Amino acid sequence: DQIEKGGYEHFMLKEIFEQPKSIKDCLRGRVISEQAHLALGGIRQYLNKLVNADRIIILGCGTSWHAGLVAEYIFEEFARIPVEVEYASEFRYRNPIIKEGDVVIAISQSGETADTLAAIELAKAKGAIIFGVCNVVGSSIARASHEGAYLHAGPEIGVASTKAFTAQVTVLTMMAIIVGHRRGTIKESLFHQLLVDLENLPVKVEKALKTNEQIKYISSIFKDARNFLYLGRGANFPVALEGALKLKEISYIHAEGYPAAEMKHGPIALIDEEMPVMVIATKDQTYEKIVSNIQEVRARKGKVIAIVTEGDKQIEAMADFVIEVPGTHEFLMPIISVVPLQLLSYHIAVMRGCNVDQPRNLAKSVTVE
Ligand code: G6P
Repeated sequence: DQIEKGGYEHFMLKEIFEQPKSIKDCLRGRVISEQAHLALGGIRQYLNKLVNADRIIILGCGTSWHAGLVAEYIFEEFARIPVEVEYASEFRYRNPIIKEGDVVIAISQSGETADTLAAIELAKAKGAIIFGVCNVVGSSIARASHEGAYLHAGPEIGVASTKAFTAQVTVLTMMAIIVGHRRGTIKESLFHQLLVDLENLPVKVEKALKTNEQIKYISSIFKDARNFLYLGRGANFPVALEGALKLKEISYIHAEGYPAAEMKHGPIALIDEEMPVMVIATKDQTYEKIVSNIQEVRARKGKVIAIVTEGDKQIEAMADFVIEVPGTHEFLMPIISVVPLQLLSYHIAVMRGCNVDQPRNLAKSVTVE
């Protein structure tokens, strides 16, 4: 066990720290910016179906569903195809409308989640083309899909998914760029820039991991909180959901993720000096808006912990804590901005004496309904 953990105290921490490598493995041979090369070997025969799709349906559960929500932003931006993201468990029981040739992307780390498997069988029976995005080679969902792309993230043991999430978003981003490039919705210059940005992700994630000691300190301050609010906008909104899920899963602290602008329609009523608010506030098109959201929290005495782009001075002046991470193209940002949130949930859980790798009531893979 100790050997498998590679010197780390828990699998979860090991897997968080493995991310520069797992993302690199995920990109290997698929992206070569110098040769303007981007290809997913597992998606060839049906690639045209994806390129010409009228809409894309993405299915998943838990963290995989969050990766799907990030992909919705990315596909719509780069490929200009409408995307619907569904919980597999809901999709399968509501007589979904699918027509021949519709495209479904099923996301599953294990490839064994019962709801996701049943949902794709249903979609397949109605004539959809299924692309699987799985980590486990030869898994049921991988086999039930027409085509797909593996994550190559290596085995994930910790029940709370970490490196699978960043690899899922990496694969889905590659898919969206391939499709956008084929459709002509991404210009050549942006295409090249995105390939370089993809290649730089491992180094940037490595840098984001350097926040570990600072996050340990922040965790010691907030470990006894009873609630946490996570806010983000755009592609970082699903990251807020994922951060909240991580905290719930392993530390048993109630946490909610919200799109920052929706705060005023409800959660703002909860904010007082007892409420830590984690804001993902990296530089993007809604930056100024999120600065006002931070001010709204501050005005109600909430404690603000902000994840910002390196060198940000404006938010530093107003937040209680700022965590700096390297910037990248805003639609690739979730792969970096999620890292401090994984670390925060890990450290808080350890400080509360929770069983980090095997949290109560949860299973790594839910193979029953
Ligand atoms: C379980 C795990 C989660 C995971 C979800 C979906 O609930 O605890 O970490 O995100 O299943 O699993 P999958 O293998 O389909 O990605």
